Amino acid sequence: MTVSEEVMQRLEAVSFPTPPAVVVRLVQLLSKDNVTAGEIADTMALDASMATRVLQLANSVALGAGSQVDSIPEAVLRVGVEGVRDIVFSLAMVGAMRPAHFDYRPFWRHSLAVAFTAQSLQSRAQHLSSPFPETYTAGLLHDIGMLVLDRALGAQYCDVLAAARTTARPLSEIEHEMLGTDHTLAGGRMLEIWHFPDLLVDAVRHHHKPWVTGHVVTRLVHLADFICNRQGIHHGSGHFPQSCAARIWDELGIDESELPGIVASVQTDLARAEAVLATA
Ligand SMILES: [Fe+2]
Ligand SMILES: [Fe+2]
Repeated sequence: MTVSEEVMQRLEAVSFPTPPAVVVRLVQLLSKDNVTAGEIADTMALDASMATRVLQLANSVALGAGSQVDSIPEAVLRVGVEGVRDIVFSLAMVGAMRPAHFDYRPFWRHSLAVAFTAQSLQSRAQHLSSPFPETYTAGLLHDIGMLVLDRALGAQYCDVLAAARTTARPLSEIEHEMLGTDHTLAGGRMLEIWHFPDLLVDAVRHHHKPWVTGHVVTRLVHLADFICNRQGIHHGSGHFPQSCAARIWDELGIDESELPGIVASVQTDLARAEAVLATA
């Protein structure tokens, strides 16, 4: 049996964790055109400590200075229903999904920063008629396959991460060399098993090669991932890519000359990521 066959067999045999009930409900709400504050409040009721943590986060400097927020309706006024939805989703995922063999902090810091950056890029994209509500979630989940590989392979996956760190090469290249598969395929498979929408599966599976698929959210996540990695906000791999395919900028309708401005806003995104991480 080849290494790749053996790894695939172990991936198929891995028992995927069940997503938290809050996450399942929020994913269902994602496909709705207009989420209401009442629906978000009902969802939060699935997790006893959620409302407290959402308020804590809504009051953090990272989400905008202002007067003290004392209730969920006030939090909705400050960051919007979608903003509260994304906060709840982030807190639930960061709390529930922790790797066993590597540090969760750089992993989730990178994932959160990519989520916020993908959202900022969406607001800059000229070739987008209306924003996709799934963009933040897609960014947050894009590298979730690393958690699947951690679960399936245990300490063997640490060797892969160490090799990526010492060579400063893209993690997926090393994964293919050592395992015959990579975290994009493992993550896509997990979201399929979780019955997440195709758009999210697509973004996770193709975030390194967005040109093989047609979806704009996948392109936004790819570009956000590139920008965060370039700024050193990576999941510990030590990879700092210097360029991203010109066609991705063109297809989204974002001028590459905007990069310095985007990079400046990534610092704000990073502060938001840190605030979520501190609250989760
Ligand atoms: Fe990735
Ligand atoms: Fe990434």
